[in-house]
Amino acid sequence: MDLYDVIRTRRSVRKYRPDAIPHEVLIRVLDAARIAPSGSNRQPTRLIVVKDAATRQKLVPMCHDQAFIATAPVVICAVGRDIKFNRGDWMGDYAMIVDVVIAVDHLTLAARAEGLGTCWIGSFNNADLREFFKLPKDANVVALTPLGYPEGDSFMEPEGRIPLEEFVMWDGWRG
Ligand SMILES: Cc1cc2nc3c(=O)[nH]c(=O)nc-3n(C[C@H](O)[C@H](O)[C@H](O)COP(=O)(O)O)c2cc1C
Repeated sequence: MDLYDVIRTRRSVRKYRPDAIPHEVLIRVLDAARIAPSGSNRQPTRLIVVKDAATRQKLVPMCHDQAFIATAPVVICAVGRDIKFNRGDWMGDYAMIVDVVIAVDHLTLAARAEGLGTCWIGSFNNADLREFFKLPKDANVVALTPLGYPEGDSFMEPEGRIPLEEFVMWDGWRG
């Protein structure tokens, strides 16, 4: 698929078919996240890939009862190691989150290119997930996503976005 078609038709998918994802496809998608850039190439991101149905179900209450998550054959939990590294001023505090987000964005786009749906899950209980996955002290959850083949036609052009004239400010802040 053309990159712009991938970007334009990636949508949040909340209905999944139970069909398994071929292993080589899953690996390609995970690898797209692995090679994402990170500040100073520190690579703080780790992906917990949950295939086990009972485990997927246990994640639902930790994601504020978003039941659709467990209907996908795979759920990915993106974790960041909070590597203390001064990237200069304000961004230092948020560096790990930025890195993990880039990796997850790679993943969602690679998934779309493979005909797979994702849905960024930001509504979750970090403390519960940390305990459930027995994360080390310096690790926190940044996002989760189900991953699977969409039920019905989910890949549509985006809706409800602000127009480009509002989004882009040429040569300085306007407003
Ligand atoms: C940081 C972030 C957190 C989100 N959290 C959730 C969530 O917890 N549950 C959910 O169903 N969708 C969640 N979404 C999906 C957004 O609602 C969705 O991306 C947005 O409405 C645009 O729709 P689209 O992804 O189909 O283009 C989240 C998206 C982002 C970027």
